Amino acid sequence: MDKVLVLDFGGQYNQLVARRVRECNVYCEIYSYKTDIETIKGMGLKGIILTGGPNSCYEEGAPTYSRELFEMGIPVLGLCYGAQMMQHVLGGRVERASVQEYGKTPVTVDTTSPLFEGVPAETICWMSHFDYISAMGEGFKSIAHTKDCPVAACSDESRSLYGIQFHPEVLHTPCGTKMIYNFVRNICGCSGDWRMDSFVETAINEIRNKVGDKKVLLGLSGGVDSSVAAALISRAVGKQLTCVFVDHGLLRKNEGDEVEAVFGEGGIFDLNFVRVNAQHRFYVKLAGENEPERKRKIIGAEFIRVFEEEAKKIGTVDFLAQGTIYPDVVESGLGGESAVIKSHHNVGGLPDYVDFKEILEPLRNLFKDEVRKAGLELGIPAHLVFRQPFPGPGLGIRIIGDITEDKVRIVQDADYIFRSEVYNALKAYESENASVAPWKPDQYYAALTNVRSVGVMGDERTYDYAVALRAVKTTDFMTAEAADIPFDVLQIVMNRIIKEVRGVNRVFFDLTSKPPGTIELE
Ligand code: XMP
Repeated sequence: MDKVLVLDFGGQYNQLVARRVRECNVYCEIYSYKTDIETIKGMGLKGIILTGGPNSCYEEGAPTYSRELFEMGIPVLGLCYGAQMMQHVLGGRVERASVQEYGKTPVTVDTTSPLFEGVPAETICWMSHFDYISAMGEGFKSIAHTKDCPVAACSDESRSLYGIQFHPEVLHTPCGTKMIYNFVRNICGCSGDWRMDSFVETAINEIRNKVGDKKVLLGLSGGVDSSVAAALISRAVGKQLTCVFVDHGLLRKNEGDEVEAVFGEGGIFDLNFVRVNAQHRFYVKLAGENEPERKRKIIGAEFIRVFEEEAKKIGTVDFLAQGTIYPDVVESGLGGESAVIKSHHNVGGLPDYVDFKEILEPLRNLFKDEVRKAGLELGIPAHLVFRQPFPGPGLGIRIIGDITEDKVRIVQDADYIFRSEVYNALKAYESENASVAPWKPDQYYAALTNVRSVGVMGDERTYDYAVALRAVKTTDFMTAEAADIPFDVLQIVMNRIIKEVRGVNRVFFDLTSKPPGTIELE
């Protein structure tokens, strides 16, 4: 399989660069710029992309690479800092710009360059730089410019070296993916053999070879990653796989049964499925607890205890499987150069509460969208594959204050109504407009405020709970805006919740963006 290296210089878009390359059906991996040249030579690469980064390449100690990288005869594309660094090393000059470009910027490109094949001569690019290339190294010529930037892109075609000052990887550069396609497919000559159907086939063979006739244990949450991992391993080794699904009583309405319908007895996969109905245990442990972080800890600790008990019943297993995906690996600081964003629980720290010999992580090299594609290839129903994110502690952090079984019922029923009506409205919009509704939320749910207030129903005074509806638009879940759900849809939801969910007499819609709010209420 053809492979491209994304050499990470600490840029915030390193994963985006890798995703764009994969969208061109080319496999790539992210490595730190500290990776030594011998390792890089041994990778069997078709091309190298240098990412952006926060430094100035002429400063003492700035991330750099030796000339050898550009002398291997492998095509190299530098992006932003990567382009500047390439010039700095190869005899060009980089200086602080008098005009610092930021944002969408008109750019004129040389359409005779293979990098810009099929790109209009006048297009838009996303700029974000303080420094600029004021002189190019020998052999290079400028192949794009903006009003304030004489070298918005440059190339030395004879050596297959290219630099782009702007960011083709972000969607604000409309032809950016085409430029990356031109580089990896035409300039590097990658055949486009990275496809999910072949990934699934190869992964199944690899799992079969690795596992042999041994036993595998997997904790199934019903989320996309663990579901796809289960499906893949089941296709490879069938009943040698045991999946333990813990129902902690804080799942969404019908969710436990939906997971069981797919993975349990009579489902579409050949595996041992153990469902642990531990709802009551969790409610007992959580009784009277109000504090959000303590609730999270109780749920997490009890979850491990239940899983451990089940694992003990199964006995020693050879492999513990996990649904770790590529962003987990990169964000844990194991892949690229970017600062450790979070130490992901899936990576590095192996659970010591299960008796196993080796870890099995078949999705370790996939991005989320690729995991979903693999899920569809494997026959997992679309409603599971395209599930919105759902937190591990589940409804436990969507019930403000203490948790009771009755509150769980209220929030499950209200949430079910909200999700069904939004789904119906989205479908109706799509069939009328042949496009996705612009307000389509990326995550939405109903929560239970701990507020009770006075209302009137029929002729009777009520004193019942208020439900909060939350719906957000976001790309990275780090920042978010309230989704602009049409008012008539919200009214239908409100009417149904009041009418159908006992114990609720008021419905709020949460308008708060993140920051200052978070997506979850606790
Ligand atoms: P916040 O509330 O931090 O949520 O804005 C951002 C994203 O993370 C999810 N989330 C969690 N996921 N355990 C999880 O597995 C948690 O404790 C947790 N808290 C928040 C949230 O659903 C959203 O997608």
